Amino acid sequence: MMADKTSGGNGDGSTGEKAQGTNGGLAESVDVKAALSQKITRISTGIPGLDEMLEGGIPKNRHVAVFGGPGTGKTTFSIQYLYAGAKAGETGLYLSLEEPPEQIITNAVNVFSDLKDLPEFFEGKILVKKPEAYNLDNVIEVIENAVVNQNATRVVVDSSTVVEAMFSNDYDYRKSIVEFLNLLKTLDTTVYFLVEASNAEIDIRYKLEHYIMDGIINLYNLQRGNSRVRALEIYKMRATNHSQKLVAMKITPQGIKVYPSEGVL
Ligand SMILES: Nc1ncnc2c1ncn2[C@@H]1O[C@H](COP(=O)(O)OP(=O)(O)OP(=O)(O)O)[C@@H](O)[C@H]1O
Ligand SMILES: [Mg+2]
Repeated sequence: MMADKTSGGNGDGSTGEKAQGTNGGLAESVDVKAALSQKITRISTGIPGLDEMLEGGIPKNRHVAVFGGPGTGKTTFSIQYLYAGAKAGETGLYLSLEEPPEQIITNAVNVFSDLKDLPEFFEGKILVKKPEAYNLDNVIEVIENAVVNQNATRVVVDSSTVVEAMFSNDYDYRKSIVEFLNLLKTLDTTVYFLVEASNAEIDIRYKLEHYIMDGIINLYNLQRGNSRVRALEIYKMRATNHSQKLVAMKITPQGIKVYPSEGVL
């Protein structure tokens, strides 16, 4: 397994063991025509101001990491994404690796008490499931089943931090998560990965997810004087221009609101 990690330094573009072992030194073939004909379509985040900050929404079938410290609103933000899908007739899956699904549902309907159609969506369009603990194969199985059999087009994995904990070293985690992401790319679904940041403040320590995901949205709960203010930023989103602003965010009974014209100092 370590051979892949250390190969690639031959100076002639060949990659040691992997190249010899697979296709005689040739890289994977690239379908340039298919790449050129790919159009970026977008899906709504369910948060009006946020869609504007993304030139209309998240690029479809991509993977977005939602980073945030405890209580910054990662779960609530994701439920709103699934709710937006459900309103548009799409099925969504919330995969909770630790928190009981019942608690996710109860909390969501309490936080978004003005969204009167939310409770019934939990009975069909928004699936909340908990795979077997620390079993990545089962995580994949549950997602595949929802996408293939129930036509889920929006998926939330809460959290990739728990997936990471299934591996004893960074290399195994990176290899498995990249394989997992590539597998997800073959399915017609857009995925949010929730990632636990180490604290609720601005955290500039880069994690693996900063590099391997297509997009990063950071959620913050910033201390200002003797209070805290919620804030959001789009840190990265491949394939689209986006706002670079740190903007105010509020959790309200009608849903999350962001204020693109209100920067946070
Ligand atoms: N009705 C409400 N109105 C406004 N804010 C609320 C309401 N209910 C809960 N909140 C806020 O939402 C926070 C929880 O949000 P959420 O569960 O989405 O965060 P999280 O980032 O997923 O947290 P964790 O890391 O613990 O999973 C609470 O700590 C509280 O501050
Ligand atoms: Mg949560």
